[in-house]
Amino acid sequence: MSTRRIKERHFSGTTDPTVPEWEIKHRAVARRAAADGIVLLKNENHVLPIDINCPVALYGAGASHTIKGGTGSGDVNERECVSIYQGMKNAGYHITSERWIAEYDSIYDVARCNWRDKIKKGIAASGGGEENFFPVYCTNPFRMPAGPEITKKEEESETAVFVISRIAGEGADRQAEGGDYFLTEEEHCRLEAVCRLYQNVVIIVNAGGQIDLSFLDEFCNIKGLLILVQPGMEGGNALADILSGKVNPSGKLTDSWAYQYEDYPNSETFSHNNGNVEREYYEEGIYVGYRYFDTFGIPVRYEFGFGLSYTEFALSDCTVKKEQNGMLEITAKVKNTGDRTGKEVVEVYASLPDGRMEKEARRLIGFTKTTELKPQEEQTVKIQIPWKNFASYDEAQSAWILEEGKYGIELGNSLGTAQEYAVLQVTEEIILEQDKKICGMEFGKNEITCKNRKEQADRQVDVPVIELHASEIAKVIVEYRKNAELYPEDAMEFVHTLTKEECMKLASGDPGKAQGSNLGAAGIVVPGSAGETSDCVKEKGLASLALADGPAGLRLTKYYYVKDGKIVYTPIEFNIENGFLYDGEEFEGTKYYQYCTAIPVGTLLAQTWDTGLVQMVGHMIGEEMEHFGVSLWLAPGMNIHRNPLCGRNFEYYSEDPLVSGKIAAAMTEGVQKNPGCGTTIKHFACNNQEDNRQESDSILSERALREIYLRGFEIAVRESQPYAIMTSYNRINGIHAANNFDICTEAARNEWGFKGLIMTDWTTTMSRDCTAAGCMRAGNDLVMPGSEDDYKNLEQELSDGSLSEDDLRACVARLVSVCWKSNQYEEEV
Ligand code: BGC
Repeated sequence: MSTRRIKERHFSGTTDPTVPEWEIKHRAVARRAAADGIVLLKNENHVLPIDINCPVALYGAGASHTIKGGTGSGDVNERECVSIYQGMKNAGYHITSERWIAEYDSIYDVARCNWRDKIKKGIAASGGGEENFFPVYCTNPFRMPAGPEITKKEEESETAVFVISRIAGEGADRQAEGGDYFLTEEEHCRLEAVCRLYQNVVIIVNAGGQIDLSFLDEFCNIKGLLILVQPGMEGGNALADILSGKVNPSGKLTDSWAYQYEDYPNSETFSHNNGNVEREYYEEGIYVGYRYFDTFGIPVRYEFGFGLSYTEFALSDCTVKKEQNGMLEITAKVKNTGDRTGKEVVEVYASLPDGRMEKEARRLIGFTKTTELKPQEEQTVKIQIPWKNFASYDEAQSAWILEEGKYGIELGNSLGTAQEYAVLQVTEEIILEQDKKICGMEFGKNEITCKNRKEQADRQVDVPVIELHASEIAKVIVEYRKNAELYPEDAMEFVHTLTKEECMKLASGDPGKAQGSNLGAAGIVVPGSAGETSDCVKEKGLASLALADGPAGLRLTKYYYVKDGKIVYTPIEFNIENGFLYDGEEFEGTKYYQYCTAIPVGTLLAQTWDTGLVQMVGHMIGEEMEHFGVSLWLAPGMNIHRNPLCGRNFEYYSEDPLVSGKIAAAMTEGVQKNPGCGTTIKHFACNNQEDNRQESDSILSERALREIYLRGFEIAVRESQPYAIMTSYNRINGIHAANNFDICTEAARNEWGFKGLIMTDWTTTMSRDCTAAGCMRAGNDLVMPGSEDDYKNLEQELSDGSLSEDDLRACVARLVSVCWKSNQYEEEV
């Protein structure tokens, strides 16, 4: 039994407004991460880098109002944000379009005021009240104005940079219309003018996800294209690093950019597109992103894994061998053959044989990034690949299998350039892992199939063939244990000392807090954090955990006021009187500051393809958690980019589960290097749409579920043991993820060995057919933020026998064990 001592924590943050050393260091990491994730897609006539002495005309919505990240819980309150305009000035560029930018700023301010009024009116029309803020706000995202007309060329410049910016966030999906996926007519006019007036135009896409790029076919003066995504507080400086050539671009796309929206396989039916936001049928099955385009032979504008550099690299001397540890090991040499220092990503794909089961033509099975290589410098990279990365899930046998056949091993710096270097010959069908059926639904028959599968690239006759036999593989047979049996012994000893009432209180969050308009920012101990777990048994030595969002940094309020030892004012998200957050109110008392580092959004981080760098970012976030007294970071977000219009894609990493899983694992390892700080990987699972997110039902086959939507979570859990998992709002084949025994207990705990805490997303139990007791039965340990109704529901279902006390206590034991290892304790006595 533990006798740990709870740390005395005082007001978080500092009363000193000056910039501390750590903020400067952390901003440098954020800047590097942003620069390394930016993807260069087009660089005709070497229009980039742009000499620092070359005058540049800068236009577009995001020039001076660069979007650093998405809205909602994924937002972060940093000290200051560097726009592209500011970043380019800092780098020493002479911006010739100052007047246009100043005019833009005035137009922007008016548009922003009008938008606020619209929100206020919307709230009034829905009956007023702070609880209406969130729905009205989410469904009326601010659209960036196009700005003043561009009528003449700024004489000194031949080069213009044009920034296209988009805002999205949780609670609503994006729209396939002007101002979102497409340009508005006005934006198109501005772009047309810039392309008419300037010889060299460079486009910057400052959006959380894909947009339509067909304007590239229209205007031949567009010579450069950079995908900035949403780069965090240092975005302007990071972009200037790339524009000036101080940093050589090394990012690669983690999504396919189609020629047109209609090319995405689920474009007709996704979310609101077919008017049905209740049921989302995943008819594309495993054919998500490049798996679809590549297999069906549909050309894309920019393929998965693609990104240019200012230098060139050559790949050679690839060797492939089986390792003793049950992995395939690949080594290759990467040489910088150009004339600038740079980094390169090596991507490994497997071409999969069609057999009894239809498979995608190719699949990413591994990747790595070189260090910085000088011209002519060479590095040997090594990548280890587990057999499961080649496997498919056979629903008929409830098993991960390797079907007999030839699996080509291809290496390259994008899906398009990958070439076969070896063949893995699987001599007979191999069962890697024997599971059981989960999330039962025979949906497979409704999925699309590929009749004319794209032929595998011509096989090189001289590549080595490596055989793999069933006898070499130790088959895993999963042992499925009950929820009530899966608890840490020492924590359960403690839980046995608690009353039933105390257990119910612990499991049902911290009722009364974190509700209404301040949803997701109502933490009190650490102001503006998302919430806290119950402190009802503090006297018995159990600390309460402070939980803060993510994923673009630590989300706290920038400041709060303390008077007579009490917090007297914390800015809230929406205030009926004043309108919006941070209207500059001054209060009596002492002001505490909590500036956090706004890092790039998830997609941009993933575009670095650099797990070492992501670990470094995670480590720094962990330091900030420790600094402010936060134990669990409600991040990373790692849902799959199933369709470009998902409102929260910016928070997530990729259309590919390996990228998602590896980057989330790296982030977790980084954060958790700080003792007592943990990640909460989210939203588990199939949370791929924001419209009607609390009720929508993701209907899919078990195979697609396991191979695409759970696989990233599985990798992250197996590789990094995050402290926590957050379930998603949606249903999966009819059952809410939060109440879903199959994903929480069978998949996460029994199959992958997850040891931590599972919690709900905020207010999930307010959805139809989703209950707190249902969470406990499923093995979802903590209802957040929790309400009196959740407590009552537990009480009721315990008393009528529908919830067993053993299930409840197992859940609480898992919560206790995460509390114990958190940074809320000072030492073991
Ligand atoms: C979001 C979560 C977030 C939570 C707490 C919810 O609205 O979906 O991602 O962690 O709020 O802020």
